[in-house]
Amino acid sequence: MAMTADGKIATANRTIASFGSPRDHAHLLELRATADAVMSGARTVDSAKINLGPGGAKFQKQRLKRGLAEFNLRIIVSGSGSLDPQAEVFRHAFSPIIILTTRRATANQLARLRRVATEVKICGAKEINFAAALRWLRRKWNVQRLLCEGGGDLNDALFRAGLVDELHLTVCPKIFGGRTAPTIAAGIGFKTLAQAKPLQLRSAHRVGAEMFLVYGKIG
Ligand SMILES: NC(=O)c1ccc[n+]([C@@H]2O[C@H](COP(=O)([O-])OP(=O)(O)OC[C@H]3O[C@@H](n4cnc5c(N)ncnc54)[C@H](OP(=O)(O)O)[C@@H]3O)[C@@H](O)[C@H]2O)c1
Repeated sequence: MAMTADGKIATANRTIASFGSPRDHAHLLELRATADAVMSGARTVDSAKINLGPGGAKFQKQRLKRGLAEFNLRIIVSGSGSLDPQAEVFRHAFSPIIILTTRRATANQLARLRRVATEVKICGAKEINFAAALRWLRRKWNVQRLLCEGGGDLNDALFRAGLVDELHLTVCPKIFGGRTAPTIAAGIGFKTLAQAKPLQLRSAHRVGAEMFLVYGKIG
C-alpha cells in the first residue's frame, strides 16, 4: 500500500489514489511477480483503470524463472455483488478472474458477474469467510502466495481475520487530510488496544523522499 504521511490511501473524494513515485510502482510490480494471485476490493477495481496483471514481459520472465505461472490470477472481492462488470480489469483476458462474494448478491448480479469472470464463488451468507475462501483458493487454484492490494475495507477484513503475514507500506511525502479519506485499514477495525494487531518492523529503506517499510506479523 502507498500511504501519505497522514496515513491516507486516497483523497476524501477518492479522485486521487495513485500518488507514489515510479519506484513505488515498480515495487508493486516486483511484489506481484512473487505471488500466485493478486486480490483487490470492488471499489479499488471499479474506480481505476487497472488490470491487476504482471505489468510487462520483464516481470512475466521473472515469474517463469520462479516457477510461477506467466500471468498471476486475479481475485476481486465484492460481498454484495455491486462490482461493475464494465470495469477495466474485465477487458484484459490474460489470466483467470475470480470474484469472491456472498449470498447477499442477487441472482441478477451473479449472472452479470458470471458473464465477465472465470468463476464467481459464494463464500458466506452475509460476510465473506476469508479463512475458508483462502483455503478454497489454495485447493482449487493452487494459490500459495497472495498479494492483497487493498483498498482499506478489504485490508481491514484480512487483518481482523488474522490472515496477513506481511505488510509492504510506502510512506509518501504528502498530506491529504480529510476525515473520510480511506486509510490502509478502514472497514470496522479493532475496538481495544488489546485486540490491535501487533507488527514487527522487518525492514525500512529510504529511496528519495519515500520510505519503503516491511512489517511482519508477530507470532
Ligand atoms: N494508495 C494505495 O496503495 C491504494 C491501494 C488500493 C486502493 N486505493 C484506493 O482506495 C480506495 C478504495 O478503498 P475502499 O476501502 O473504499 O474499497 P475496497 O476495499 O477497494 O473495496 C470495498 C468493497 O470491496 C468489497 N469488500 C471489501 N471487503 C469486504 C469484505 N470483508 N466482505 C465483503 N466484501 C468486501 C465490498 O464490495 P461490495 O460493496 O460489492 O460488497 C466493498 O464495498 C480507492 O480510492 C482506491 O483507489 C489506494
